[in-house]
Amino acid sequence: MMATVLDKLITPTVEDKTTLPTSKISIVGVGQVGMACCVSILQQALCDEMALVDILEDKLRGEMMDLLHGSVFLKTPKIVADKDYCVTANSKIVIITGGVRQQEGESRLNLIQRNLKIFKGIIPQVVKYSPDCILLVVSNPVDLLTYVTWKLSGLPKHRVIGSGCNLDSARFRYLMAEKLGIHPSSCHGFVLGEHGDSSVPVWSGINVAGVCLQSLNPQLGSDKDPENWKSVHKMVIESAYEVIKLKGYTNWAIGNSVANLSESLVKNLSRVHPVSTMVKGMYGIENEVFLSLPCVLNAKGIIGVINQKLKDEEIAQLRKSADTLWSIQKDLTEL
Ligand SMILES: *[C@@H]1O[C@H](CO)[C@@H](O)[C@H](O)[C@H]1NC(C)=O
Ligand SMILES: *[C@@H]1O[C@H](CO)[C@@H](O)[C@H](O)[C@H]1NC(C)=O
Repeated sequence: MMATVLDKLITPTVEDKTTLPTSKISIVGVGQVGMACCVSILQQALCDEMALVDILEDKLRGEMMDLLHGSVFLKTPKIVADKDYCVTANSKIVIITGGVRQQEGESRLNLIQRNLKIFKGIIPQVVKYSPDCILLVVSNPVDLLTYVTWKLSGLPKHRVIGSGCNLDSARFRYLMAEKLGIHPSSCHGFVLGEHGDSSVPVWSGINVAGVCLQSLNPQLGSDKDPENWKSVHKMVIESAYEVIKLKGYTNWAIGNSVANLSESLVKNLSRVHPVSTMVKGMYGIENEVFLSLPCVLNAKGIIGVINQKLKDEEIAQLRKSADTLWSIQKDLTEL
């Protein structure tokens, strides 16, 4: 047979050219959120293989082709997509963005029950092909669905993480930055607890360069504060609704925040992020619920939780969220 161009171009130096991925990331769900996570991760070159899964075959194939056409600009040599979960095999991280959104007038229990059905089709498949992976849950209501994922996966709790308040904290730091004229990366502060309306800003920890803002204004965060810093947290809550009202969904900020979490995991950075973790036994919480606390993330998953000195009212708020979550979780059938 005549030698091909390829034969003439390259003299092979190894027989077996097959290699397993070392930092594969898979994303379940190629909607606006899933694709924003995907693009952020690809642009930061965090993985050597990206796998996408969804039930919408045409959309899936279209997204994969579109991404592959930009390969010359990327440093991720393999991008694959399929409705079969075998495409996710050997993942280090699997990001879950699938599920349905709350419909008008729908109760949270009903929403979670519908998503539970969907997750039953997702999580066991994911774990079957990547038994050693870290699961990163992004779908809402995230704290409840992280619990559902933990239960369905059978994985140890340190390998099931909810994106939780990582985005709420990022929004807080952006708004704080706007107020101070300092880049958000130098504005430090944690929003903890339940993702969304009942999240808890830890005012005592808000700082720039280690200078606690509460030491400069003891009323900071209280109703008596003449500067009304409380409104910063109020805006964090409202801004999600506003973006949804304006463009129909939020995706870019969550995409970047998930990429940032993925970076800590794949690069074994041991950085601290406010993410949703199993909090039973902490702050007097008695049930198995997931809430955001400052967690140390590295290649093993959540390797520790930072113990913060929270005020009584902050702890009360965490417990209230825990009770609310448990009151829904305990009624989940078929889990
Ligand atoms: C990523 O997360 C770390 C830890 O929370 C944070 O310090 C950093 O500013 C974030 N952003 C980027 C772009 O790395
Ligand atoms: C990850 O980081 C931890 C803590 O710094 C270290 O003990 C461990 O050896 C690292 N693991 C890998 C795979 O590099």
